[in-house]
Amino acid sequence: MEVIIRPDTNAACELVSALIAQEVRKRPHLVLGLATGRTMENVYERLAKCHREEDLDFSLTRTYNLDEYIGIAPEDPNSYRFYMNKHLFNKINIDLRNTHLPNGFAEDVDRECELYEESISRAGGIDLQLLGIGRSGHIGFNEPLSALQSRTRAKSLTPVTIEQNSPLFDPPESMPRRAVTMGVGTILEAKRVITLVTGKEKAEILAKAVEGPVTSMISASALQLHPHCTVIVDEEAAELLQGREYYDWIFKTEPEWEEFR
Ligand code: F6R
Repeated sequence: MEVIIRPDTNAACELVSALIAQEVRKRPHLVLGLATGRTMENVYERLAKCHREEDLDFSLTRTYNLDEYIGIAPEDPNSYRFYMNKHLFNKINIDLRNTHLPNGFAEDVDRECELYEESISRAGGIDLQLLGIGRSGHIGFNEPLSALQSRTRAKSLTPVTIEQNSPLFDPPESMPRRAVTMGVGTILEAKRVITLVTGKEKAEILAKAVEGPVTSMISASALQLHPHCTVIVDEEAAELLQGREYYDWIFKTEPEWEEFR
């Protein structure tokens, strides 16, 4: 795992979008794993700008989102499908048939989860997975005690997550209590993972996830097991990290980061 600390949220989001753009350019048929949430809006805005102003071409890109609420139709403004269309897909030249989210409205949710896993496998697996971390330590909606080998399945959301996301619903009580999410095991199979964490309210959970023990109580800590995971954070989120001198040294000296410094 590498941790890259950028001076502020914009700089962190700029680095994440530059890394994604680099991969899209390198590999037109890239299979991209995507996340939703407030943190990602800034990244998607930047990717849309790269498409508009620098001809970043998504025509052959395939995407798989991490999660979707159960019981919400894709056209509902609170669905993650709606979020993705609004913040990214409608602003770039992606073929919507190549974009995938679990269907939270499926009659047979377990079957939907199996089909989602099969679809990811048929695509050849995820090349690059983008992640955020929730205040409960979740990645996707893998709440505490999610098995580290879990696959796509239905999951009950924690009170912390309901508190985090319900302000986005009108009324807040209408937020679903369950969601379909890729499993921790599914996420760990991505060839590369980029995790973006910003803001001081994430400082405590970030420090536990990155520098604490690997535990199913904090799903994000499982990223320590991934062979190619980069965690990109702003100063506020980095506040409680112990090893920052070394992390800064890596960013300053490793040739991989030269073009981004
Ligand atoms: C959503 C997802 C979640 C979010 C996390 C952070 O698709 O995967 O794990 O990344 O809840 O959300 P924000 O960015 O709203 O703090």
